[in-house]
Amino acid sequence: MIKKFSTTYTKEDTINFIIDDDENMDWISTFDSNNFSRFFIVIDKEVDKLWGNLLRKKLETHDKESFFFKVEAIEQNKSLDFYPKLIDFLEKNKCNLADLVIAIGGGIIIDLVSFATSTYMRGLPFITIPTTLIGQIDASTAGKTCLNTKESKNVLGTFYYPIISYNNIHFLKTNTKYHLRQGYSEVFKYGLLSSEKLISLLEKYGQLPPNDILMNIIKLSIETRVKIRKKHPLVSNLGHTFGHAIEKMSDFRILHGDAISAGTVVALNFAEKKGLITKEEVLKIINLMKKIGLNICIEKNINIDKWVELMMRDKKSSAHGMDLVLISGIEKPYEKDGKIFYATTPDAVKAFLEGFMKNYDYIISDCAAFLKKDKLVYINK
Ligand SMILES: NC(=O)c1ccc[n+]([C@@H]2O[C@H](COP(=O)([O-])OP(=O)(O)OC[C@H]3O[C@@H](n4cnc5c(N)ncnc54)[C@H](O)[C@@H]3O)[C@@H](O)[C@H]2O)c1
Ligand SMILES: [Zn+2]
Repeated sequence: MIKKFSTTYTKEDTINFIIDDDENMDWISTFDSNNFSRFFIVIDKEVDKLWGNLLRKKLETHDKESFFFKVEAIEQNKSLDFYPKLIDFLEKNKCNLADLVIAIGGGIIIDLVSFATSTYMRGLPFITIPTTLIGQIDASTAGKTCLNTKESKNVLGTFYYPIISYNNIHFLKTNTKYHLRQGYSEVFKYGLLSSEKLISLLEKYGQLPPNDILMNIIKLSIETRVKIRKKHPLVSNLGHTFGHAIEKMSDFRILHGDAISAGTVVALNFAEKKGLITKEEVLKIINLMKKIGLNICIEKNINIDKWVELMMRDKKSSAHGMDLVLISGIEKPYEKDGKIFYATTPDAVKAFLEGFMKNYDYIISDCAAFLKKDKLVYINK
């Protein structure tokens, strides 16, 4: 079964989404490539080991000259240091606007390749074949291309859209549970922001839904993501202002999804402190996160000054303060007098964090090591 739908961001920018459960991935050998001369395929090294034979066989049927470039999926490669290597690959092989770039991998590969394709010749045509849940429901859906700088994550970027995003659920079967959890953390976030249906599917099926439900989860997540993105590019950032700093302070040993799950817990407690959400609602959401198996733990030895300092580098921060995405319940994003962000100050956040870290039940030492587990089992302090 194949599900197709599309979204239009601007007059020129439409993403055609395909969600597929075909184990043979026949769509890859049959998509319309008539308008393109050659293929430039940028693929995650790991994905190439697992899926390379099948993917090459399918792509060969188009009978195009094809160039492959394998990239290790590490955050350090989503950077200005690595970017010229990819540009060299395109330039050396005389890639031009008649060619098609195909990005195959998780969020790291998609962010890197989409940034490179958006800048090379001011925009090459490209399609994505995301192979992780984050890639499918997030990195491939909103046209937000990203590179990290030395100090900050995702701070360089452009808006640029793949023509097609091909999402086959079988790629997810070879994801580790650890990586899959990172994706479910974003799915949960979209549920909190705008889809009670998603939350109920996660509550019912956890992180191992049957294939038809998994396809539904992906479709609903993408639709929710697109809806939110159209409102404002940064309103999907629930848990991200607190979470990106957690991710960075761990030197990326805590992965994105686990970091933003923790960031969501902090944001919920912050909203409670500000009288925006009830304690019962916060507890209900945290219990749901426990049930679904998402991270709710926070590092004991975290440096609060550093935490706030990093939050001040967030895209929603300015010299005057910082803006947070908050909710007052499931499907109830903060909105007041036309403002969709809650404005606060570094001092207010610091005072809150000091109190929160003294009282929160799930503060543990070496959180990154704890989170390496496939299944999270929580122990109160
Ligand atoms: N641009 C956006 O809108 C956006 C949105 C969300 C996340 N992101 C970015 O995405 C990145 C995270 O993405 P991710 O979680 O997909 O991580 P990732 O790309 O690092 O992939 C995770 C791991 O899974 C491996 N892998 C990929 N596909 C696999 C498969 N099918 N089977 C087995 N292993 C596989 C990779 O080699 C890697 O080790 C972060 O850099 C984040 O900032 C971007
Ligand atoms: Zn995210």
